[in-house]
Amino acid sequence: MVAGPAAFQDAGPARIPAFFKPHVQLSEYLAQADALAHEARALLDGLDPSTRLDVAKGQLNALKDDRLNALQGALRVLAPEDRRAAGTAFNTLKTAIQASLDAFSARQSTGRASGTFDATMPARREWQGTLHPVTLVIDEICEIFRELGFTIALGPEAETERYNFGALNFPPDHPAMELHDTLYLGDDTLLRTHTSPVQVRTLQQFAPPVRVLAPGQVYRRDFFDATHAPAFMQLEGLAVDEDISFVDLKATLAEFARRFYGASRRVRFGPSYFPFVEPGAQMDVEVDLNDGKGLRWVEILGCGMVHPNVLEAAGLDSEKYTGWAFGMGPARIAMSRYDIHDIRLLYDSDVRFLEQFAR
Ligand code: DAH
Repeated sequence: MVAGPAAFQDAGPARIPAFFKPHVQLSEYLAQADALAHEARALLDGLDPSTRLDVAKGQLNALKDDRLNALQGALRVLAPEDRRAAGTAFNTLKTAIQASLDAFSARQSTGRASGTFDATMPARREWQGTLHPVTLVIDEICEIFRELGFTIALGPEAETERYNFGALNFPPDHPAMELHDTLYLGDDTLLRTHTSPVQVRTLQQFAPPVRVLAPGQVYRRDFFDATHAPAFMQLEGLAVDEDISFVDLKATLAEFARRFYGASRRVRFGPSYFPFVEPGAQMDVEVDLNDGKGLRWVEILGCGMVHPNVLEAAGLDSEKYTGWAFGMGPARIAMSRYDIHDIRLLYDSDVRFLEQFAR
C-alpha cells in the first residue's frame, strides 16, 4: 500500500495510520488529564462570583476544548492494554471539570444571596410611558371641538399688558394687573394670566369665520396648595362670524358637555362677569365627585358673547361681526373626572401615580 491520503482513508475503523502508533504513553496520558483537571479547577476557583456564567464557560472552553479533544483522540492511539485505564481517567477528568463548574455556579448563588449580583432577578420589563391626565383631557376636548369645526390656535406665554389685559377690555386700573396677582417679566411683559389673549391674536391674523381652540399654560401669582398652582393649563375657545348669537354658544357648549360627560348629563348656564364678554356666563355640569353624594353642579367654564371692544381692538367691525368665547381649566376637569383631590399630584411626576391613567 502506498502511503498518502488514500492510505488514511483505508486505515480501518480507527482511521489512524499504523505508523502513528503508539505515540502516547499511559503515564503521559494520565499526567495530562490530571493537569487539565487542576487547571480547570484553578481557573474557575479564581473567578469572581459576579462573573457571568457564559463568560466563565467561555474561559473554561478556551482552556479545555482543544486539550480534551486531543485526549479523546489519543485514546485510540494508546496501546490496547492501556485504553481501559486511560478511558477511566478521561471520564474522571470530564466529571472533575463539571464539578468545578458546578462549584463556581454555587458560589455565584451565594454571591447573589449576599446581594452582590442577582442573576435570578427578572429582566426589566419593557416600560411604556403614557400621557399625563391633563393632556388626556385636553386631547379629548380638542377632538370633540375638532368634530364641531374648530382648529387649534396657539399664542406666546410671555405676553404684553395690552394683549393680556387692555385689548381684552380690562380697564387700566384693574386689580388683576397688580403685582400680587400677575408675574411680570418686565415693565410691559408678563407671563400670561389666561389664554384669552390668543383670541385677539387669532382675530388679528385670520378673518372671520373663526372657530379656534387655544390650549396653553398660564401663570398666576398663587400659592401652590391642594387647589391652586402658580402655573396651569387653560383651554380657550372662540367663534366669530356674522350673526353668531348666544344660541350658538349654548348649543355648542351643551353639545360639548354631552359628548364629554355623557348624553344624559345636564348642564346649566348662569350669569357671570368677565371684562371681555357681554353678557358673561358660566356653565355648570352635573358631576359625580365620588364622595357618595351623587351628582352635583360643578362650574366647568366661563363664557360669553365677545365684547364689542375686544372685536374692535382686534381690528374687526363689531357692527358686522359677533362671536362667543369660553375658557376652562382642564386640570380641574381632570381632577373631577379621575377623582384626584390634590392638584399637586398632577405636578409631582410620580410614575406610580401617573401610570394609573395609562390607556
Ligand atoms: N380668561 C378667563 C379666566 O382666566 C376665563 C374665560 C372666561 C375665558 C370667559 C373666556 C370667557 O373666553 O368668555 O378666568
